[in-house]
Amino acid sequence: MKVTLVSRSGREFINGGLELPDSATVADLQEAIYKRTKKFYPSRQRLTVPVPPGSKERPVVLNYKKSLKDYFDEKQNKLTVVFKDLGPQVSYSTLFFFEYLGPLILYPIFYYFPMYKFFGYGEDRVIHPVQTYAVYYWCFHYLKRIMETFFVHRFSHATSPLSNVFRNCAYYWLFGSYIAYYVNHPLYTPVGDLQMKIGFGFGLVCQLSNLYCHIILKNLRNPDGSGGYQIPHGFLFNIVTCANYTTEIYQWLGFNIATQTVAGYVFLIVATSIMTNWALTKHRRLKKLFDGNEGRPKYPRRWVILPPFQ
Ligand SMILES: NC(=O)c1ccc[n+]([C@@H]2O[C@H](COP(=O)([O-])OP(=O)(O)OC[C@H]3O[C@@H](n4cnc5c(N)ncnc54)[C@H](OP(=O)(O)O)[C@@H]3O)[C@@H](O)[C@H]2O)c1
Repeated sequence: MKVTLVSRSGREFINGGLELPDSATVADLQEAIYKRTKKFYPSRQRLTVPVPPGSKERPVVLNYKKSLKDYFDEKQNKLTVVFKDLGPQVSYSTLFFFEYLGPLILYPIFYYFPMYKFFGYGEDRVIHPVQTYAVYYWCFHYLKRIMETFFVHRFSHATSPLSNVFRNCAYYWLFGSYIAYYVNHPLYTPVGDLQMKIGFGFGLVCQLSNLYCHIILKNLRNPDGSGGYQIPHGFLFNIVTCANYTTEIYQWLGFNIATQTVAGYVFLIVATSIMTNWALTKHRRLKKLFDGNEGRPKYPRRWVILPPFQ
């Protein structure tokens, strides 16, 4: 079977196309492209079926597991595929690892080392118990996230663009340093003992609930990450679609009740708005996938992320 490869502008991408056996799959085509170009490994490639000029239709992305025959145009008796370079890729676990490593290292630096002399303060600093508990709470949170990345999450996408590493690291590393600077500051004023205990206690319960939510999500997929999207059931998922984000937001609220800084609350607001956007997309996707038609289950009525608001 002859496969013609074109770029999005319609120019031929591989001169003369590629010849593949009739039984070839999309994955075989991806390997053949890599072999020929020596640059575009499979996860860098986005292969789609061409759409007629002027059409508003979204192009169909070729599924790597399917046979090329499934996309063969019988009328034109040929197969034309549009190639797009997605740019250098990294695995999701690499992306998450570097995102979380920054705050895990940067925050304790502000607690353990005499950093504030570089900001014009003396070396003497009284460390309040809340600052000590905060550093443990913080490190537990990011260690948990790294452990979940390697031992719990079953990602559906193998890779993410390398550029996301820089964007996401900037977000986590800068916010981590910003919060660490204020919570460990020599002029920091601690909250009362009861408020601190309520904040950390509530936050810890939410962190453990968040881990449990991630285990529930993990069990919706096969160990190789296949299985697509399912309706999550059990625990808080019975009332809210993104219970993992709900517990994530509340655990940051707990941290902020205990430590009470403007920096911490700014992060809480930004993180909540990011997760709310994602949660709305995930909720819509599940409602569309499980629409109750043609034997498909109907997605139950649930809050999206933060009952009773959303
Ligand atoms: N503080 C912040 O700013 C912030 C922001 C975002 C996330 N987080 C934290 O990081 C965690 C991970 O976030 P995330 O957004 O990358 O992933 P996520 O949505 O929490 O999902 C975790 C894993 O479960 C899978 N999954 C989700 N819904 C599923 C369903 N209905 N059926 C089957 N599998 C499903 C996901 O698959 P896919 O690979 O297909 O997505 C992913 O592998 C969050 O839960 C939260 O604790 C924090």
